[in-house]
Amino acid sequence: MIAEYKVEGDVAVITLNNPPVNGLGLSTRVGIAQALDKANADPAVKAIVLTGAGKAFSGGADIREFGSPKAVQEPNLLSVIRALELSDKPVVAAVHSIAMGGGLELALGAHYRIAAPGTKVALPEVKLGLIPGAGGTQRLPRVLGVEPALNMIVSGEPVPAEMLAMIPGQKLFDKIAASPEKLAEEALALAREVAAKHADGSALPLVRNLPAKHPQGDGYFQFARNMVKGMAKNFPAPAKCVDAVEAATKRKFEDGMAYEREIFLNLMLTPECRALRHLFAAERAASKIPDVGDDVKPRDIKSVAVIGAGTMGGGIAMNFLNAGIPVTILETKQDALDRGLATIRKNYEAQVKKGKLKQDKYEQRMALLKSTLSYDDLKGADLIIEAVFEELGVKEQVFKKLDEVAKPGAILASNTSTLDVDKIAAFTKRPQDVVGMHFFSPANVMRLLEVVRGAKTAKDVLATVMVIAKKIKKTAVVSGVCDGFIGNRMIEQYSRQAGFLLDEGATPQQVDKAIEKFGFAMGPFRMGDLAGNDIGWAIRKRRAVEKPGMKYSGTADRLCELSRFGQKTGAGWYDYQAGKRDAIPSPVVGELIEKYRKDQGITPRKISDEEIVQRLVFSLVNEGARILEDGIASKSGDIDMVYLTGYGFPIWRGGPMQYASEVGLFNVAHAMQRFAKNPHDDAEFWQPAALIQQLVAEGKGFGG
Ligand code: NAI
Repeated sequence: MIAEYKVEGDVAVITLNNPPVNGLGLSTRVGIAQALDKANADPAVKAIVLTGAGKAFSGGADIREFGSPKAVQEPNLLSVIRALELSDKPVVAAVHSIAMGGGLELALGAHYRIAAPGTKVALPEVKLGLIPGAGGTQRLPRVLGVEPALNMIVSGEPVPAEMLAMIPGQKLFDKIAASPEKLAEEALALAREVAAKHADGSALPLVRNLPAKHPQGDGYFQFARNMVKGMAKNFPAPAKCVDAVEAATKRKFEDGMAYEREIFLNLMLTPECRALRHLFAAERAASKIPDVGDDVKPRDIKSVAVIGAGTMGGGIAMNFLNAGIPVTILETKQDALDRGLATIRKNYEAQVKKGKLKQDKYEQRMALLKSTLSYDDLKGADLIIEAVFEELGVKEQVFKKLDEVAKPGAILASNTSTLDVDKIAAFTKRPQDVVGMHFFSPANVMRLLEVVRGAKTAKDVLATVMVIAKKIKKTAVVSGVCDGFIGNRMIEQYSRQAGFLLDEGATPQQVDKAIEKFGFAMGPFRMGDLAGNDIGWAIRKRRAVEKPGMKYSGTADRLCELSRFGQKTGAGWYDYQAGKRDAIPSPVVGELIEKYRKDQGITPRKISDEEIVQRLVFSLVNEGARILEDGIASKSGDIDMVYLTGYGFPIWRGGPMQYASEVGLFNVAHAMQRFAKNPHDDAEFWQPAALIQQLVAEGKGFGG
């Protein structure tokens, strides 16, 4: 039974039992309603305790029911909350661990509430582009006061129950239990106490009857609205939270409830809400690999080694130190090792200076770090990550050596961004233990980790890497082996389009501005200047050998021939003043582009911002669709996660594949066919991928 029912003396105890977090799915709701009826019908029962089994009171809506008719089927959450309010016998909600979203709204329907210390209380709906939809915006201000309630609703962040209990005049919790262990006992005692109190038939207290007032009323809400507008300009939900809470102070309770409902339903239909819900589901789905079931047992990772203390090696090591996992870092020369360690220290010291890291934590982390010049010191490592120069010959040396010294069962990972992981695996006699772990720069900051699955990578190796990724707070997405994996394979097409746009008449600043207005953190040319234009140059040179015939704008090569590599050389697509990062339009680059157009016989035309955005974004979409066709990514949500966490794609658009589905794949395919007719572009590339054509024919989007 999903809501257990038990009578302890004269108190009925209803315990939600729907692991993992007692989500309020249909069967749970039915269970609560039935148990309430039973308790009210039993003359021996004087009061009721409502609590949750296991790890939560309740985490709110059951995400498995999202979007299905079951989510709203009667008894819906509003009806269950009403049933609590209407119970003849007092209901005490005994909350612990987690009381979030619908879980908190449910507790607000009870007559009394007791919390275990440490309970995380939140209304996180705003994070899904929504407002609370079962009375949260109307009841929370009535028990907490307007300001703390609005703060919680707008931020969606959890607050410990005992902190909320300290708010003067609060009525959210009647009591905080002495300890989580004591909650059950104290809840029973409270239930008996209130049963005695109301034995005379006096009315049970209802949150809906409390007043919600703010002394400065209009002024406060105006202030709140301004704050929210600045912080969340691309999301409609936070401003709607303010509207709903204001309604709690101005309207009758039932009118406020109707208003909350109306806002909730309207937000449900916005693309931003769909994007955030997609992201929520995609993030969870990314960690599940279709053919790696829960029965695959991950290996134990107690210590890590990193080969190479350069830009990436240092950042990678920091991730593990931050998670309390010891790291040994290896270099070939002492001075390289010293430099690497100094950079790690400098990074941590900067965090200490900014107050983001405590001195003792910094020292603890550094104490976990060992450095060495000898492979003998790697014998005990459970996971070894290679981050040496991007040359197959160097990788060969390293992996042969690792094969000799690493203990059996150790995972051997490469951070290569362009090389073939299967070739690297073949340098060892244990290709099943080899995997790609492609971190993004700066590796201690960027959330994305592409996990590159080689042809022979063992399932338990993949399972282990997914677990360890979570420990170091990365979003891991599995990619098959191909040139550029998911992210860089797509970005190459995007960069090619950026180049063609210059050839045809756009300026770097026009392209950057257009895509930044769309929401990208940084346009392709400012990005190139930041990362170093020489990186792309090297890739194009290699490509010219490996895949001759791929069409590129020649402007980037000409830029590099002038050694304009970007910020590091003080000049790239833009000019830079010493010590500053502001991108200043460059007359030299303007001339370079004009000369290139002339040499190619291209007459420049005016290009609209809309065309710029479509060509850049739809190039990602077409390549993304091919990545799905090739089985490099297993689902479109994985591609979206890569772009949201590694490439600065605007979150409120949900990733390139989700965005394309929003635009409608029919429209996307039509635009592609139009671009294919452009003589200065790549007609073959713009043929809509077979998957897109198929989905258009079926009238579908990419789905998850
Ligand atoms: P880097 O040049 O900053 O660092 C490489 C380090 O490896 C140097 O400190 C060098 O002394 C050391 N090294 C070279 N050969 C070695 C050997 N045989 N044994 C031990 N140490 C050795 O290079 P970076 O940028 O850190 O790149 C490392 C790897 O990470 C490359 O495979 C690269 O493709 C990949 N990568 C780089 C990204 C970036 O943005 N820099 C992003 C993602 C991956």
